[in-house]
Amino acid sequence: MTDVLLATFALMPDGEPGGDLLVDALAERGVRAAWACWDDPDVDWAGARLVAVRSTWDYHRRAPEFLAWARRTSVATPLLNGPEVFAWNADKAYLTELADLVPAVPTELLDDATLVAGLGAALERWGSVVIKPRTGAGGVGVVVAESLADERLEGLTAAPWVVQPLVESVRTSGEVSVFVLGGGAVSQVDKSTAGTAGGEIRVHELYGGRSRAVPLGEEQAVVAEDAVRAAAGLTGADLTYARVDLMQWQGRWVLSELELIEPGLYFDVEPATATRFADLVARQLG
Ligand SMILES: Nc1ncnc2c1ncn2[C@@H]1O[C@H](COP(=O)(O)OP(=O)(O)O)[C@@H](O)[C@H]1O
Ligand SMILES: [Mg+2]
Repeated sequence: MTDVLLATFALMPDGEPGGDLLVDALAERGVRAAWACWDDPDVDWAGARLVAVRSTWDYHRRAPEFLAWARRTSVATPLLNGPEVFAWNADKAYLTELADLVPAVPTELLDDATLVAGLGAALERWGSVVIKPRTGAGGVGVVVAESLADERLEGLTAAPWVVQPLVESVRTSGEVSVFVLGGGAVSQVDKSTAGTAGGEIRVHELYGGRSRAVPLGEEQAVVAEDAVRAAAGLTGADLTYARVDLMQWQGRWVLSELELIEPGLYFDVEPATATRFADLVARQLG
């Protein structure tokens, strides 16, 4: 009998990096947890007392199928954050809603019909821009452009996209991830482009980026908690877990991404986040 099923994907059947720390921390609290692939037809989701989506890192390629799975699963079993939140968070258009409520990297929507006019306006306003798929993860499809003739635009993936100013500070102060559990910021990991090559702006390890645990910053914690509170207000949902990614823009830390579906929680980098997550899950199970 399993209390909690942790949803992962086929290329990572044993769960996210450091996922064993979470299973151990849950076991210490008397909660039996196991990893299961979200698209495995043999998994009895309804047999668990709770389902937590963790490392479903193919969802962005299969969003409709994934969201349908989440809706089905949540009918039978409590699913943390839940399918409505997932549907809202799977489209980076959420950044345009949050930007009215919390400081955020300016974000505009773009599609094939508006590409030339929209990109032209963004270039005029910001000089260098970043275009990325509205449903994306892991830095896939992130394109930098400095003009409409920029040949890097040939790397665009299928529309629609969002366009943002290129936040130059990502190359110096990097990107910060704040982990917000039960509405409160609990830990922080700083991610830097140190080790990347060729002007890379993506901080992911895959591109040579580095991540390290640091003490929770006061300013970062406030922005992160405000972002989660704002998202809870917009979705009308209880947000059990979130990773809030921040970048420095015009001298302050602002929201760059809010991850409410399958954020990597960096348990391997900051094991304390695993115990805090386990505490929360154990509390929810009563
Ligand atoms: N506007 C931007 N300015 C500078 N760097 C960016 C910008 N947008 C994204 N990046 C870089 O690209 C990475 C991936 O983009 P992100 O918005 O996090 O999308 P996802 O993680 O969902 O693919 C970020 O972690 C950051 O390193
Ligand atoms: Mg990201």
